[in-house]
Amino acid sequence: MPKRTSRRHSWAEPYKIKMVELLKMTTRVERQQAIKDAGFNTFLLRSEDVYIDLLTDSGTSAMSDDQWAGLMKGDEAYAGSRNFYNLRDFVEEYYSYKFTVPTHQGRGAENLISQILIKPGDYIPGNMYFTTTRLHQELAGGTFVDVIIDEAHDSQDPHPFKGDVDIAKLDDLVRKVGADKVPYVCIATCVNMAGGQPISLGNLKQLRQWCDEHNVLIVHDMTRVAENAFFIQEREPGYASKSVKEIVYEICALTDAATFSAKKDAMVNIGGMLALNDPELYDKACNLVVVYEGLHTYGGMAGRDMEALAIGIRESVQDDHIRARVGQVRYLGEHIEQEGIPIVKPIGGHAVFLDAGQILNHLPQTMFPAQSLAAALYVESGIRSMERGAVSAGRNKETGENYMPKLELVRLTIPRRVYTQAHMDIVAESVAEIYDQRHDVHGLKFTYEPPMLRFFQGRFEALVPEPATV
Ligand code: F0G
Repeated sequence: MPKRTSRRHSWAEPYKIKMVELLKMTTRVERQQAIKDAGFNTFLLRSEDVYIDLLTDSGTSAMSDDQWAGLMKGDEAYAGSRNFYNLRDFVEEYYSYKFTVPTHQGRGAENLISQILIKPGDYIPGNMYFTTTRLHQELAGGTFVDVIIDEAHDSQDPHPFKGDVDIAKLDDLVRKVGADKVPYVCIATCVNMAGGQPISLGNLKQLRQWCDEHNVLIVHDMTRVAENAFFIQEREPGYASKSVKEIVYEICALTDAATFSAKKDAMVNIGGMLALNDPELYDKACNLVVVYEGLHTYGGMAGRDMEALAIGIRESVQDDHIRARVGQVRYLGEHIEQEGIPIVKPIGGHAVFLDAGQILNHLPQTMFPAQSLAAALYVESGIRSMERGAVSAGRNKETGENYMPKLELVRLTIPRRVYTQAHMDIVAESVAEIYDQRHDVHGLKFTYEPPMLRFFQGRFEALVPEPATV
């Protein structure tokens, strides 16, 4: 018998299913009506009209029985809830940060840190923008500057750490505006808009040194730090024998403060926090949080939710968990790739990103190919995805011009511990079907464009081509 040497090992889940939620099946005609009613925006669909919901991994994960049990231990005192102290201790143990200010979700923390650190006229470099993060920087009078490596803007570049910062771009910025106009560098782990791409610890250490030399802080968007740590363990020399938990701690310890949307990695349905080390910044955050969120020991979260979050943090850094989580995303990505469909490479941590710009290359970017593809995929299959291209990028705050990002993507985002391998097969098959019909997909035009974060509530109509005249 031939010896099997390179057998592939699957990513089986380290849990079993205790409760299920039944889904409604819809017809194509119903879905055509639903997407029209939603102005061709998947954010405006009703969830019960969706079969497999890959809109986002935010707040959509399945909590464990331990987390549900934690809800029963909620101490709903207005001030000084024991769940807050638990959460604070977990944050220090797992993430290294000394002070925790709970917020209702990630953008609450982004608002606080932007108001505390940014003065009008400042510049905030970051490893690619995130929609809400950049908006809060702009509302505080700052200007975002993209300092991610060029490879991140190329969907096909196989660079293993496309989240890395190009230090030369930081030098350039400081030469132009001076370091005193740069309060902090904003670093996301597993960069969402780049396709869920990690930053390496080697790069982060270089950045730490650069920031120390220039007296600039590092604020860490740690929304998907555990997924980033998994890629470091897998790809970065010297880290194969370290646990995800150890790597997460090491990443956080290299930064000064963090904003956290707990709705992703930490698998709660709502919640977030600002985490800090500097007592003076903590005092300022405590002063501001009462204005926007709630008292500094709950910041908009119920006691029970803080308990579920603390438990979720512990579960999120388990090696078995994260291997299965990223394994499922990779399973879907590889299946779609085998069909010859262009996706962002390498496959990221939380989602598979379809290269809508390439798939619908008969549509100019001004006709929003990614928005069009997301709508068409829904009609085809009942699968909900999200546009991450020109609609999400919005307009330049000074000139009012549309940003036209190099990445024009549709994100198939996988909630944690929710869908099965068979669901992933259906998704890949449905994407292949829409790919076969790609030439029939029409572009879209805005009928309503909100002034801020337009992708959430914008409405569109289909641009059906004129019949050919004879
Ligand atoms: N930072 C990143 C990297 C995010 O992905 C998000 C949210 C936030 C900050 C804001 O956090 O939603 O809790 O206020 N991303 C969601 C998504 C909405 O679908 O990617 P929030």
